[in-house]
Amino acid sequence: MAKRAVPRFVVTGRIPGPAVEMLREAGEVEVADTDAPLPREEVLELVAGADAMLTLLHTRVDDELLDAAGPGLRCVANVAVGYDNVDLVAAASRGVAVTNTPGVLDDATADLTMALILAATRRLGEGERTIRSGAPWAWSMSFMLGHDLRGKRLGIVGLGGIGRRVAERARAFGMTIAYSGRSAADPEVAAALGAERLQLEELLASADVVSLHCPLTPQTWHLISASRLALMKPGSILVNAARGPIVDEAALVEALRSGPLGGAALDVYEHEPEVHPGLLALDSATLVPHLGSATVETRRAMAELAARNAIAAVRGEPLPTPVPPPA
Ligand code: GLV
Repeated sequence: MAKRAVPRFVVTGRIPGPAVEMLREAGEVEVADTDAPLPREEVLELVAGADAMLTLLHTRVDDELLDAAGPGLRCVANVAVGYDNVDLVAAASRGVAVTNTPGVLDDATADLTMALILAATRRLGEGERTIRSGAPWAWSMSFMLGHDLRGKRLGIVGLGGIGRRVAERARAFGMTIAYSGRSAADPEVAAALGAERLQLEELLASADVVSLHCPLTPQTWHLISASRLALMKPGSILVNAARGPIVDEAALVEALRSGPLGGAALDVYEHEPEVHPGLLALDSATLVPHLGSATVETRRAMAELAARNAIAAVRGEPLPTPVPPPA
């Protein structure tokens, strides 16, 4: 079959900024006119005949979707740094490249993580709820005390781009840094952060705040399990702005209720957008709705980078930010 001269780009939901214009200059474009996840049947219809698709993180990219796109598909450009919604084996087996948006969202996500650390240690959610409830309150020497960050240890699980930016911010607040991860960080980066590499178990047992920045993979699913939560330092805080299923949410509720955890601050949930009812009932849980990269500037940059990837793919040019194919 002769290849169409004009490539077809498909976007599975609304995206901001100049990204759609960029795609239009490079081919024909169809954008699903919705912010909410598109019903599956409609996604399957939309992608038919696509040369490249820009997918949002609630689009499940699997055999079915790739088949629905057809044999002309060259690239899945995921508009997110995480790509746990994409079956990499299914894409690779069809010769379809996968790209993501690393780097451009590191600062926004690290800012949000730092906000979560502060919210949890200084009880900001609880304070807000107290005021809005109309309950009487008054300043006192013992009213709603939190904890200082200076001198406390931050344990980072996954010292990648986002983890590093969180570490830089935490150091400015006087925290010391430890990290765990599959591989050792660049020695210069670790030295600049004064970051000590520990086994996950040691990190959990010694950190005052543990913040997760690893990708969701079969290996990291429920990485923070009941038995690992039990290792955490009494009164410590768990922060998750990575992916919900890295934490066993039911076990987290238990560790908040009965110890050892002092608090949790979450941006992501195991069964998103559902939140475990046990968390909703706990003042020690700070809960925000997946806002890690949610700034005007960052979302524009993510969309633009995904568009650059898709355009490069249809032109046969080097991809700006490819996801390595599975081994
Ligand atoms: C957001 O959650 C992302 O992975 O980019």
